[in-house]
Amino acid sequence: MNIRGFIFDLDGVIVDTAKYHYLAWKNLANELGFEFTHEQNELFKGVSRKRCLEILLDIGGITATQEQFDRWMVEKNIDYLAYIEKMDKSEILPDVPKVLDFLRDENIPIALGSASKNAKAILEKVELLPYFDALVDGNNVTKAKPDPEVFLIGAKQLGVAPEHCVVFEDAVAGIQAANNAHMLSIGIGDKKILSEADYNFSDFTEINIDFLKQLISE
Ligand code: BG6
Ligand code: MG
Repeated sequence: MNIRGFIFDLDGVIVDTAKYHYLAWKNLANELGFEFTHEQNELFKGVSRKRCLEILLDIGGITATQEQFDRWMVEKNIDYLAYIEKMDKSEILPDVPKVLDFLRDENIPIALGSASKNAKAILEKVELLPYFDALVDGNNVTKAKPDPEVFLIGAKQLGVAPEHCVVFEDAVAGIQAANNAHMLSIGIGDKKILSEADYNFSDFTEINIDFLKQLISE
């Protein structure tokens, strides 16, 4: 398939940080006097921090002043960072290193394409930063997924044409962003939810080396 560049989303693909985002948003919701459920947290996957807070306030029926909005954004992130602080490499999702090691051995460049502004800190905590040739995160983009911007910048930084890149994503908006970038999209998670992906796997344990070899073969 002649894939020359690999791009990975972070949250939900490399590490399961959704649970920490959930706890931090739940703490804020509870402080504001309402409940926030796991089901509602699904809406937050792949979505920017700002947009998440807008959705959260909608759920709670709360109208915020700009000053409150900014303060709650900061508060949520401080809370989230306290959970991140305790992360280590045991939190890398199963068989992610298997894939990264294979790519490194094959000299295939690797990029991160994440909406998170905390991406670099998380990769450092789980000791995966050295694998990445390019990092594109919430600090480098102006348009959120499903806009292809994050992945197009990643491809450019790898020096690989978009048509020769593959993206691993757990969010619907992320799969759409990859498709919009004309890249091969691989859904990690529920096949029913990620039905727009070119390929689907529950997690990386289902991805074998032969499949990876097929992707990079001419
Ligand atoms: C995405 C997550 O990767 O990053 C979202 O799936 C999160 O849930 C977004 O809101 C922004 O993250 P951060 O770390 O900048 O608040
Ligand atoms: Mg994700």
